[in-house]
Amino acid sequence: MIPCVSACSGFLLACLLAFTLQIFYFSPLSPDLLELPPASALPTNKHLQEVTKLGEGFLDRPEDVVVDRDGILYTAVRDGWIKRMHKNGSWENWKKIDSDALLGIATSKEGGLIVCDAEKGLLKVSEDGVVVLATHINDGSKIRFADEVIESSDGSLYFSVASTKFGFHDWYLDVLEAKPHGQLLKYDPSLNETSILLDGLCFPNGVALSREEDYLVFCETWKYRCQKYWLKGIDKGKTEIFIDNLPGGPDNIYLAPDGSFWIAVLQVASKGLEFVHRSKPSKHLVASFPKLVNLVIGVKRKATVVNVAADGKITRKFDDPDGKVMSFVTTAFEFEDHLYLGSLNTNFIGKLPLNPTNS
Ligand SMILES: *[C@@H]1O[C@H](CO)[C@@H](O)[C@H](O)[C@H]1NC(C)=O
Ligand SMILES: *[C@@H]1O[C@H](CO)[C@@H](O)[C@H](O)[C@H]1NC(C)=O
Repeated sequence: MIPCVSACSGFLLACLLAFTLQIFYFSPLSPDLLELPPASALPTNKHLQEVTKLGEGFLDRPEDVVVDRDGILYTAVRDGWIKRMHKNGSWENWKKIDSDALLGIATSKEGGLIVCDAEKGLLKVSEDGVVVLATHINDGSKIRFADEVIESSDGSLYFSVASTKFGFHDWYLDVLEAKPHGQLLKYDPSLNETSILLDGLCFPNGVALSREEDYLVFCETWKYRCQKYWLKGIDKGKTEIFIDNLPGGPDNIYLAPDGSFWIAVLQVASKGLEFVHRSKPSKHLVASFPKLVNLVIGVKRKATVVNVAADGKITRKFDDPDGKVMSFVTTAFEFEDHLYLGSLNTNFIGKLPLNPTNS
């Protein structure tokens, strides 16, 4: 009897030790505590439940959406296809890239698209096919987790690297770690060279140019803010806050025709599980079990987009408060008085008319 008890408790102790080692010693994280976004004073509505669904069933999690000057809509989906919708509403599988990590896309004035591949770097996709523009930074390091890109009128490409530590499929570990591993990069086509503009950013995500191209705005997801980076004038090279205390984590950002910006905002934490972000042991535990990550991520339970004027004030906010029709909305792109909404949790693009009744 006695030997069995001590053998059993010895076994249990060994299990407990292995479990603790697994969680703390082999944890992929060295986390900091994370402040969560303040509760929004703006009322919640259900406008995002009124979308028309484009390409339903044909689009696997269309993260980003752009419309070119001819009115052709483009998106990149999870199996590596760049798909497009013609003006007559018909969809086409346009170009295929061997990747499951395509994120931000931008139209290029020479025609075609610039595409962020979170594993390969920056690509150019045109009728002629796919060309790799950049895989490395001029300091020799590999471009990690390219997230979103914009082309300026001189052909320079400004793009974000969300994290140099974690990849796209582990993006939430960067949120849990809450340490600034992100970069803002610039690709110069005349030199075929990529340089670092800013380092130590908090999951930089969307990037947009102002109408005059005198500054760009980049969003830092788990800081709930977007910053301006001046490209011209006396403040050239400096940053300042464009908007902070957003009602969630900003994802992609697009310039609207009136000079304001559309920002998709993510619910970073699940309701009731916010404490995880304030507890290092909980972060280690969650990071060790992917099933727990799914529980803690709040993004699939809600959708919000905001319109922010050039002075940094929110003028409109559209929600799907319980994720009934749209959730995990990552992009809002305005074209001809409609918003086109991309998502990492739908099989369609949402189309919402921008009329006076929902402003
Ligand atoms: C729609 O437009 C595209 C591009 O012009 C064309 O290839 C396609 O056949 C058209 N489809 C229909 C149903 O008219
Ligand atoms: C530009 O640099 C990339 C590596 O970052 C290389 O793969 C590509 O061939 C170069 N393109 C040209 C036109 O030299």
